[in-house]
Amino acid sequence: MLHKPSPKLWWTAFFIFMVFSLNLLFLTQVSANGTDLDTQLRNKLSSSGVTSLIPLLNESTAKVELGRFLFFDPLLSGNRDVSCATCHHPELETADALALSIGVGGRGLGTKRMADPERTRVARNAIELFNRGVEGWHTMFWDNRIAETADGLVTPAGAQLPEGLDNILATQALFPVTSRDEMRGLVGDKDIFGQPNELANFTDTEFGGIWQALSERIFSTAAYLPLFEAAYPGLEPQYLNITHIANAIAAFEASEWTFFDSPFDRHLAGNDTAMSQDAKLGALLFYGEAGCSACHSGSLLTDQQTHNIGVIPLGPGKSGSPVDMGVKLLSDQDTDLCAFRTPPLRNVTLTGPWMHNGAFSTLEDVIWQHLDPEAALRLYDVAKLEPSLQTTVKQDSELFATLFTSLDPRLERARVMSDEDIDYLLAFLDALTSPSALDLKDSRPDAVPSGLAFD
Ligand code: HEC
Ligand code: HEC
Repeated sequence: MLHKPSPKLWWTAFFIFMVFSLNLLFLTQVSANGTDLDTQLRNKLSSSGVTSLIPLLNESTAKVELGRFLFFDPLLSGNRDVSCATCHHPELETADALALSIGVGGRGLGTKRMADPERTRVARNAIELFNRGVEGWHTMFWDNRIAETADGLVTPAGAQLPEGLDNILATQALFPVTSRDEMRGLVGDKDIFGQPNELANFTDTEFGGIWQALSERIFSTAAYLPLFEAAYPGLEPQYLNITHIANAIAAFEASEWTFFDSPFDRHLAGNDTAMSQDAKLGALLFYGEAGCSACHSGSLLTDQQTHNIGVIPLGPGKSGSPVDMGVKLLSDQDTDLCAFRTPPLRNVTLTGPWMHNGAFSTLEDVIWQHLDPEAALRLYDVAKLEPSLQTTVKQDSELFATLFTSLDPRLERARVMSDEDIDYLLAFLDALTSPSALDLKDSRPDAVPSGLAFD
């Protein structure tokens, strides 16, 4: 005998049907939105000219290994106390974790590094060295004082620049060794063994002399010779010069710290699931309403141009000026006052403190600087800065007014922003972090050919 289904059963069946179809509706909506967001973002990136990074040609292992030793060897500094790695350390994310670097005479590493009170602190924040091994770099330093221009390569050394440098990164490597505060030291200095510092005796414009003397130091260190022979096979030792040193350092920097595995880079390579929904929304803002890509443009996330975004001046000043005036120190143009190069942003979450002078130690503060430079200057919290730099902050309303005369008008676009939008932007910045950048311990050699102690 057949039973008629009871009303209770009918209701249960109806309920299950409704839950199922509502769920289905919800799922299709989410994926419709997801597809929308992905398509929107891909369109935005392609109209903004952002594509996957293109690696430069591979360097030989022997050249990279030579570069590693040179990069970590304090032999390159006048007093044999500072190496490139002192300020660009793998355990400090290729920088030094300080607002302003501490060079010659300093002791220790990172936030524990102590400055020699008798010496001038380095005027600027150490720039990170990520992804310099890709195509597209044509400037170096916060003020673009090394740049490939329509008129050729411009550097502080003018006609003294040697021929035979591989690229702009190799060109850059010639200059830290000439800086008295960073590596070279002062006339009359003795090195850590009490021997005279022969590199310090040259005047600041005798670049050729400094490079010659440094080459003599390195090529007379027996342990280096087989390494140069392996890196430059077939080259007679008498033809070795400063360019072989610089080219090897650049080969190391470029090969060691160029990564393509950040969520953003994986997205650019075609993977729609690499970035979180929040990061994608942040990217849309970055390349859209927030106006960030007006300056952080292209695949390197920098236009490599200089802009004044009104960051509060602090530190010892530069080139005899109590305020680091940025590009104005080179060009003498008022429009260049406190203009600094747009920084690239890969791994930016790891490389604080940020800005040309390390003025900020949170990315929220960095973003607010762009959104409201007037308020950022007025409300700058000195207490957030390393104690020894607090008294160097130039909180002076007359200076602020002058600073605003050259403020970049492109900042205007960014001023309408909710807290939620800022969280999305932060999620996007986070998606620029490469998992490979999180542990760089292996970049450090166990010892250097000079036998000197380092880091
Ligand atoms: C005392 C700290 C210190 C030492 C030592 C040092 N640097 Fe730097 N480095 C800095 C600072 C500070 C800047 C930014 C200076 C500026 O822009 O005026 C910088 C900038 C750079 C840049 C520019 C990156 C870019 O995109 O513009 C590179 C590359 C670099 N350093 C490599 C080196 C190498 C190679 C050595 C060793 C030969 C070295 N540094 C030694 C502190 C240091
Ligand atoms: C007018 C050009 C311009 C625009 C627009 C712009 N930036 Fe910047 N950004 C710069 C410059 C220049 C600096 C360095 C300023 C300095 O040190 O004085 C900088 C610094 C930064 C830094 C610190 C990086 C570091 O390594 O120190 C971050 C992060 C950043 N910008 C993110 C953003 C975001 C997010 C936006 C959009 C809300 C944005 N920027 C819009 C030019 C710009």
